Amino acid sequence: MTSGPLLAASGVHVTFPGRRGAPPARAVDGVDLEIGAGEIVALVGESGCGKTTLARTLLGLVRPGAGEVSFAGEPLAYTSRALKAYRRRAQLVLQDPSGSLNPRHTVYEAVAEGLRIHRAHRSGAEERAAVAEALARAGLRPPERFFLRYPHELSGGQRQRVVIAGALVLEPELIVADEPVASLDASVRGEILALLLRLRDELGLSALVVTHDLGLAWNIADRVAVMYLGRVVETGPVESVLTAPRHPYTRALLSVLPESETPPVVLAGEPPDPARIPSGCRFHARCHVLASGEAAPVADRCRTEPLPVLRAGGGERGVACHGAVAGVGG
Ligand SMILES: Nc1ncnc2c1ncn2[C@@H]1O[C@H](COP(=O)(O)OP(=O)(O)OP(=O)(O)O)[C@@H](O)[C@H]1O
Ligand SMILES: [Mg+2]
Repeated sequence: MTSGPLLAASGVHVTFPGRRGAPPARAVDGVDLEIGAGEIVALVGESGCGKTTLARTLLGLVRPGAGEVSFAGEPLAYTSRALKAYRRRAQLVLQDPSGSLNPRHTVYEAVAEGLRIHRAHRSGAEERAAVAEALARAGLRPPERFFLRYPHELSGGQRQRVVIAGALVLEPELIVADEPVASLDASVRGEILALLLRLRDELGLSALVVTHDLGLAWNIADRVAVMYLGRVVETGPVESVLTAPRHPYTRALLSVLPESETPPVVLAGEPPDPARIPSGCRFHARCHVLASGEAAPVADRCRTEPLPVLRAGGGERGVACHGAVAGVGG
């Protein structure tokens, strides 16, 4: 066990080449993010802001063009052997409806697959015991009753639990869940989130939960990182960020939640395009605080002066907004 964060990304950039002469897309454009042991961090932001690309980079599935990802104090090495070893320690959990379960595989086969890839158990009995334990941990009990079922015989929530069991069977230290409950019913959603929290308490598992849904972040995470156009623009303990958001973008996201008491803020301007990141503050063209004139003292800086990369880690709050830092437009 190291005393530093379990996972640390520093200065991470991921750029995709532009299609047919278009400029390259800076999908992740300078992110510093840390996840501590046993910590649950929510990564939120609207579609296309780079959440999945960042998540895949943290798992070693995408190699950053610049910057570094380290796990337990060691920088990731991008050899197939090192990545395979890493994949046991940091597991990706996808939404089942995206087709992560093979319809022709039984639950047993689905969960045992990771063990077989990693040759983690020699005997059949050992494998059976590990599969049963993972299913039970994921809340499918008694596990043997599920061994020979097929995905179509299960409910949506049960299928999601099978996906989670498939990750747990390798005893990872970190799971990265990309929109884990987006298409589940509200009640099932709550159960899956409760499961993730229990796994953290029982196993000390760390998690990065990627979501559009700030309400979900509120229910599950210790910390939140709000992403806009490839950057983290606001971060801190979930309760403090969501009850007292400082970035106009975070405030806009919160204002459209059904339980919001403030009038919804409709963001002006064009949807953000990572191939055309604006100068100055990358949010300025859509910023309602700037448009309203409340940020007049810093308006020039908003348009021309880029903001430093936030360090999203530890317990501190951070906000990448000239107005919020200067205390105007709040
Ligand atoms: N393989 C790729 N090639 C080219 N561009 C890509 C590729 N993957 C992602 N992008 C672009 O990078 C940007 C970020 O995409 P990403 O999927 O990371 O966003 P996201 O925040 O996960 O969105 P969503 O909430 O819709 O899942 C988008 O503009 C997307 O079009
Ligand atoms: Mg995504």
